[in-house]
This record gives sequence, structure tokens and C-alpha cells, in this order.
Amino acid sequence: MSAPTLSTVLDALRTVTDPVTGKDLVRLGWIRELTVQEGRIGFTLWMDDPTHDFAPRAPEACRRALEQAFGPDMSLDISSDSDMIGLGDDLSIDGQEAGSAPGDGITNIIAVASGKGGVGKSTVASNLAVSLAQQGYDVGLVDVDIYGPSIPTMFGLESAKPRVNEHRRILPVTQFGVKLLSMGFLVDQDKAVIWRGPMVTSAVRQFLGDTEWGALDFLIMDLPPGTGDIQLTIVQTVPINGAVIVSTPQRVALADARKGVAMFEQVQVPVLGIVENMAYFTPAELPDNKYYLFGQGGAKALAEELDVPLLGEVPLVQAIRENADDGTPIVTDKASPVGAVFAGIAQGVVRSVEERNAVRPATRKIDILHGK
Ligand SMILES: Nc1ncnc2c1ncn2[C@@H]1O[C@H](COP(=O)(O)OP(=O)(O)OP(=O)(O)O)[C@@H](O)[C@H]1O
Ligand SMILES: [Mg+2]
Repeated sequence: MSAPTLSTVLDALRTVTDPVTGKDLVRLGWIRELTVQEGRIGFTLWMDDPTHDFAPRAPEACRRALEQAFGPDMSLDISSDSDMIGLGDDLSIDGQEAGSAPGDGITNIIAVASGKGGVGKSTVASNLAVSLAQQGYDVGLVDVDIYGPSIPTMFGLESAKPRVNEHRRILPVTQFGVKLLSMGFLVDQDKAVIWRGPMVTSAVRQFLGDTEWGALDFLIMDLPPGTGDIQLTIVQTVPINGAVIVSTPQRVALADARKGVAMFEQVQVPVLGIVENMAYFTPAELPDNKYYLFGQGGAKALAEELDVPLLGEVPLVQAIRENADDGTPIVTDKASPVGAVFAGIAQGVVRSVEERNAVRPATRKIDILHGK
């Protein structure tokens, strides 16, 4: 049997499933403070609700899974922790939990950002969200681009109006298996353009906190372009687990991507990786030809320099633009080869965020900033 590593330990723990939600413990974000050193495995089982049915049996189930993977001689140290106040990972705003039913809550909030406009953030955010949903995750997508929301168009929901339930909470609109909410559903575009930073952040906070998301593995946030005050306040307003940076291969775009990375570092949000969009052009009639119109290798070099994964290279293909305009993200077209690229990006995001969650402290106080 081979010596345990961070990733093989997580693989073994992925076989332990909570019977209540049917999800494995890594996916639920229960594994924290994981250390693997010279055959010694230590972690904290972090549960937001210690009265959860599976809680008392979880440590033994983990022990058995690890013994099966690494043999009986490994040294294992499991401690338990919980956070009753709901300030752990669940998005909680003004002390109010995002959901109330058992298993409700948002495990991961992922921001999709770039320094530069028009590089394909919304395209990547929407296809990433649908791809994750296709892989069986519970996914929400929120468009916080108040000045230029594009999610309603990309999902064919320009005239959608989300309903409000009896508790006056917003019900997201579901499309292609993704729970969607866009500033564009709620804010009159002509009025939004004159909104100042504080109005945007208080709207974003209310918008996220007053929505009935239910249980989500991932809430993907499509950010407005740039690294100015508005972006900075949005990323400080909600507890983001990680950021995906989108860039095109041009030097100017890469320079702006670097600024995006710096912004997340400033607020201690880990960068999960870089997606290179419009990486090369492939004409429909010559599917094996690749033309590197905007340069080659730039995002890869940037990823190496910043020591973050290059999550994927999305080609420039007409169908991506056409499908976006038609309200059907390209990954909904099973015949398109681009689907596999986004599936790979989605898997990279899942692995990257789960590994970061597993080594993170068990409790994490989240300050939702007020009026900043
Ligand atoms: N790989 C691609 N191939 C073809 N067209 C693309 C590709 N990626 C994005 N597009 C198109 O480019 C345009 C801009 O993309 P998108 O709206 O996703 O960018 P953005 O970064 O979100 O822009 P903004 O900064 O305005 O929010 C859209 O019309 C989209 O359909
Ligand atoms: Mg956009």
C-alpha cells in the first residue's frame, strides 16, 4: 500500500457518504485542518450542525475508509468541531442563515473575475455552472454585474421575474439545472448605471442574503469587469472560497489578469486557477486546426509564475458566441467538443476548492461588511 498524500487521503474520504444528504464528506466541506506527514493523517471533522444524524458515526466511518486505503498501521488523529451559530461556511447575512431546512446552505462561493472587460467571464461562469450541474452538483449562478448583466441573455431569461415566497425571500429561476439570479432580473438598467459603490454592495448583500438558495455545493458569482472599488467591495461582502480568473492570451489582458489575482490576494481569497479564453481559433470546417490569433502560452506562463493551475484553454469558436446569444450555453450542446473543455475546467475547480477547504481552519469567522 502506498503512503498517503493529501490527494489520496481526500480520495479515500470521498467514499464516506452522509446518508442524510447523499453527499460525501469532502464535498460537504466537513474535512478541515487536514495534515498528511510521514504516514500520519490528522484532520478535524467540521460540522455546522452537531445534531446531524450522521455526526456521531462519521469519525468511525472515516477511520474505516482510511484503513481500507492505507492499511491498519497508519496513525490517525480525528477531532470534531462544529459551529452552531451558522457563521461557518453557510452564507449568513446579518446573522440570518441562508437556509433553514436540514442540509441547507452554500458550501462554496466561487467568483469568476478578470481585470479586463469582454474576455469571457460571463461565458465561463455560465458554462462552468451548467457543467458542474451536469456532473451532479447543486449549483447556483448569480450575476452581480449590475451595470451590464449578461446572464439573463445567456440563459434565455430576459423577461424572467423571480418570485418571492411567503417569507419574502427571493426564489431563484432554474434553467439547465442551475439556480439563477441576476441583478438584471431586479434592477432597472437605466437606473443602475448611476448607482455608486455603497448602493451596489448593499444591493448585492441583500440580493444574496434574501434569496432561498437551498442546499448548494457551488454558488458561482459572475463579477463585473475590473479591479476597482466596486469589485473589491463585492469580494469583501460575501465569504468567497476561491476565485477563477479569466484571461485572453494578449499581453494587455494578462497584465489585467495579474491585477485581478492581486486583488484577491489582498483580501485573502485563494485563486483557484486561470482559464484562458479565446486561446486559439478552430474553424468549424477544420476542427483539427488551431490558430493562435492572440499569441500562445501566455496564460500558462502566468499560471506558472503565480503558482496556480491553468484550469483550461477555451477555443474561440463561433458556436460559443451564437449559443450565448441564443440563451443556451455551449455545454448544453452535447455534440460540441467545447463541452469537454468546460467539463475539465469544472473538475479542476472542484479539486482545487476541495483541497483548499480541507487544509483550512475548522472555523472561520465571516464578517459581512456593512455599508462599506
Ligand atoms: N471562446 C469564445 N468564442 C467565441 N465567442 C466568445 C468566446 N468567449 C466569449 N465570447 C463572446 O464574446 C463576448 C464577450 O463575452 P462575455 O460577455 O462572456 O465577456 P465578459 O468578460 O463577461 O464581458 P464583461 O466584461 O462585459 O462582463 C460575448 O459575445 C461572448 O459570446
Ligand atoms: Mg460579463
